Amino acid sequence: MGKQRILSGVQPTGNLHLGNYLGAIRNWVENQHQYENYFCVVDLHAITVPHNPATLASDSYTIAALYLACGIDLDCSNIFIQSHISAHSELTWLLNCITPINWLQGMIQFKEKALKQGENVGTGLLDYPVLMAADILLYDADKVPVGEDQKQHIELTRDLVIRLNDQFGDPENPVLKMPDPLIRTDGARIMSLTDGTKKMSKSDPSEMSRINLLDSPDVITKKIKKCKTDPVRGLEFDNPDRPECNNLLTLYMLLSGKDKATVADECADMGWGQFKPLLAETAVEALTPIQTKYKEVMDDKEYLESVLRRGRENAEPIAQATLARVKDAMGFSKPL
Ligand code: TYM
Repeated sequence: MGKQRILSGVQPTGNLHLGNYLGAIRNWVENQHQYENYFCVVDLHAITVPHNPATLASDSYTIAALYLACGIDLDCSNIFIQSHISAHSELTWLLNCITPINWLQGMIQFKEKALKQGENVGTGLLDYPVLMAADILLYDADKVPVGEDQKQHIELTRDLVIRLNDQFGDPENPVLKMPDPLIRTDGARIMSLTDGTKKMSKSDPSEMSRINLLDSPDVITKKIKKCKTDPVRGLEFDNPDRPECNNLLTLYMLLSGKDKATVADECADMGWGQFKPLLAETAVEALTPIQTKYKEVMDDKEYLESVLRRGRENAEPIAQATLARVKDAMGFSKPL
């Protein structure tokens, strides 16, 4: 039997933060050799909120370069840009026509983002999860490694598989493959540095709430120095009354590569004055090699373009085959 297939993606909105890295990309990298991998830069998703056309293309390149810098290995993985493969938009339309609108209106991320947009909510924001379902289903993905916040979108994808297969498939020969989410326990929900009850997010107006993968050592140190803590001495995991403490210890655990028991033991008697410099140093140490590799990749645009070209060349035939299968099942005439 061949390897199982993975599909995942990140939006090119600003650069990546530690939530994206620890919740998603780190897991892609760690498990990639077990799978056949497709990692896309989901630029069509990035325009579901107001975007800047002057930076969309360069932001997509930045994200692709960061995938490489974080350790994506092209021997088992493909990197491509979503909008370069038109099948993503086309399958979205087909799926739209079988998606009950109330499924989309109930999505947590839609409700949160729509609230922030006020009057100016585009149809694309409502449709975001259907485009994400198309991304996953086009590649017959077995597993979708993401952070916690994407779980509901993958559940919707699974519901769409059932619905489409029921309406247009035969039980012996399903049209679409059922994907499973791959969500790790540790790091699946990294919290804001300024409020341990809120998710670390690209859309938080405060830069101090997140550490970006490309932040300089000085900026990282400053953000950690200023981050929210509590007045209690001694640090511990999993105390619901100390969300910041749990989050910062989790960051230290994941960035240092130490296990939970070791970190709990090491930090049990520490005060914040001792812990914060330790966390800052650990974060800088973990991110420096990524930043060095990122610069190398960005300095060689031809190389990056060749990676994206090859990624598209490998991905597109799979996507087109699935699209043709769905159109056929839905009864469309074949192009002449
Ligand atoms: P995006 O760009 O918002 O997030 C990219 C990935 O980062 C994870 N993530 C987090 N994980 C832990 N803690 C956090 N604070 C945190 N913030 C973000 C997200 O769960 C995600 O895995 N809709 C997707 C992009 C997408 C996609 C796909 C993913 C489009 N099509 C197909 C998988 C498969 C998203 O949230 O992007």
